[in-house]
Amino acid sequence: MSTITPRHVVEKKQQGSKISMLTAYDTPFARLIDGCGMDIILVGDSVANVVLGMESTRQVDIEVMLHHARAVCRGVSRALVVGDLPYATCQKSAEGVLADARRFLEDAGCGAVKIEWFKDCLPVVQALIRAGVPVMGHVGLTPQTAEELGGYKVQGKGAESARAILEQAALFEDAGCFAVVLECIPDRLAGLITRRLTIPTIGIGAGVQCDGQVLVLHDVLGLFDRFRPKFVKTYVQLDTIVQQAVRAFQEDVQSGAFPGDQHRFIITDEEYRKLESWLDSKQA
Ligand code: KIV
Repeated sequence: MSTITPRHVVEKKQQGSKISMLTAYDTPFARLIDGCGMDIILVGDSVANVVLGMESTRQVDIEVMLHHARAVCRGVSRALVVGDLPYATCQKSAEGVLADARRFLEDAGCGAVKIEWFKDCLPVVQALIRAGVPVMGHVGLTPQTAEELGGYKVQGKGAESARAILEQAALFEDAGCFAVVLECIPDRLAGLITRRLTIPTIGIGAGVQCDGQVLVLHDVLGLFDRFRPKFVKTYVQLDTIVQQAVRAFQEDVQSGAFPGDQHRFIITDEEYRKLESWLDSKQA
């Protein structure tokens, strides 16, 4: 059970203190991240790319997302856990989306859901909020509909598209969202949105003026090299460390250095002698 609520996240903006958010997809990493004092853990549909080896976030559905959300929630006692509504869910009616959102909260134990902007998403968001589901919006580069946005590109570089993103963020706030993710937009646009909204903005590739920052865990840890956007900061190259450990294990197996005396279980001399004499008696 988390102790950080959407209300606390909004209060952080009011207090001028930055919000940190990272993705997680399983219990061990969720426990580690929570223990470090992260405000929000996002069970992102990026699980498709960074964990499941898929090409698109569109390939995960609510069952997959719930499987990972349950695992994350088992490892978290403090952070707010947010479940990412998958593309297939967002194709459903408002009632269908609400039913899936409730499963994130009631079945998995999340404290909120995130929804990417799409045409006609507002009635859905309003229905969720009316039903008491805390919602985080997501505007700018929205990977579920990236093809319609011209691919994985910076959004809002022209005044017209910048205005659309500003309006979408404001509409999410008006609908009652408690926060909004700004992905891959110019930093001045993100700053403008951040100043105009009373709810927090959480940036990914949106510059330092946002109220908080989010990154994908596997990018931060150097565990995903299929593509690395400019906005990613990799804090440790864990892939190299993992490979060193795996190679050392292989070498130990080949040389007989593993397992050592400390890894074995023993049978006493007396019991072993009994076993030998039983074998001898059978052979006689
Ligand atoms: O799925 C995800 O990881 C996300 C973040 C990039 C915000 O939506």
